[in-house]
Amino acid sequence: MKVGVSFISSDYPLEETIQKIDEGIADYIHVDVMDGNFVSTKNFEIADIKKMFKQTNKPLDVHLMVCSPNKYVRDLAKIPSVEYITIHYESHRRPIDVINMIKHTGKKVGIAINPETKVSHIVPLLSHVDQVLVMSVKPGAGGQKFMDSVLYKVETLKELREENNYKYVINIDGGINADTISLAKESGVDMVVSGSYICKSSDFDERIKLLKEC
Ligand code: DX5
Ligand code: ZN
Repeated sequence: MKVGVSFISSDYPLEETIQKIDEGIADYIHVDVMDGNFVSTKNFEIADIKKMFKQTNKPLDVHLMVCSPNKYVRDLAKIPSVEYITIHYESHRRPIDVINMIKHTGKKVGIAINPETKVSHIVPLLSHVDQVLVMSVKPGAGGQKFMDSVLYKVETLKELREENNYKYVINIDGGINADTISLAKESGVDMVVSGSYICKSSDFDERIKLLKEC
C-alpha cells in the first residue's frame, strides 16, 4: 500500500512536519491547497508551496481544493517534485479542459470526487486521468471521521478500470488511521492519504509503516 502524508493537521510546526515526512518512509507528500472559496479554509499560495518544497526529496501529490484550478497549473508544473496535480470534479465547469492543460505540462493528473459525487459523473474522464482521488471526508479539514459509505465507489472504479484497461491509481483521502486502513485496503485502493493520524504522533514512520503493511 502506498501512503501519502497530508501535513495540514499536525502537532509540530509546519517546517518540522514537512521535514519529518520528507526524511521518512512515506511514498508521497500530499499537499492540500485550499482557496477559502471551494472550501471555507484558505491556506497556501503557489509561492508558499515553491518555498516549502525547495529542499525536499519526496514526490508531491498536490490536491487542489480550489475554484479555479486552471489558474494554478502553470506555476505548479514548474515545481520539479510535483508528480500529480489533482483537481476536483466539482470545482470546474469543464474539468476535461483542466485535465488536458495539466497533461500538456507533462505532469500526472488526478480527478477528486466529494463524498456525495457519484462515479457516473466522472466516467467520461476516466480514460484521461492517472489518479482518482475518492474523498472519504468532506474536503476542507483534517481530523474528520472516515465515511465508509464511499467505499462502494472504489469497487466501481476498480471494475471500470479492469473492464476498460484504464491506467489510473485509486487513492482515498480523509480519516485514514489504524482502524480504517483495513476497510480501504479491502475495497481495493492502491494508495491512501493520511494526515492527523501520522502528524499528531510522536513517531511518524511507525504509523506510516503500519498503514503500508496493512
Ligand atoms: C481534507 C484533506 C485531507 C486531510 C487528511 O480536506 O484533503 O488530505 O487533510 O487528513 P486526515 O487524515 O486527518 O483526515
Ligand atoms: Zn487531501
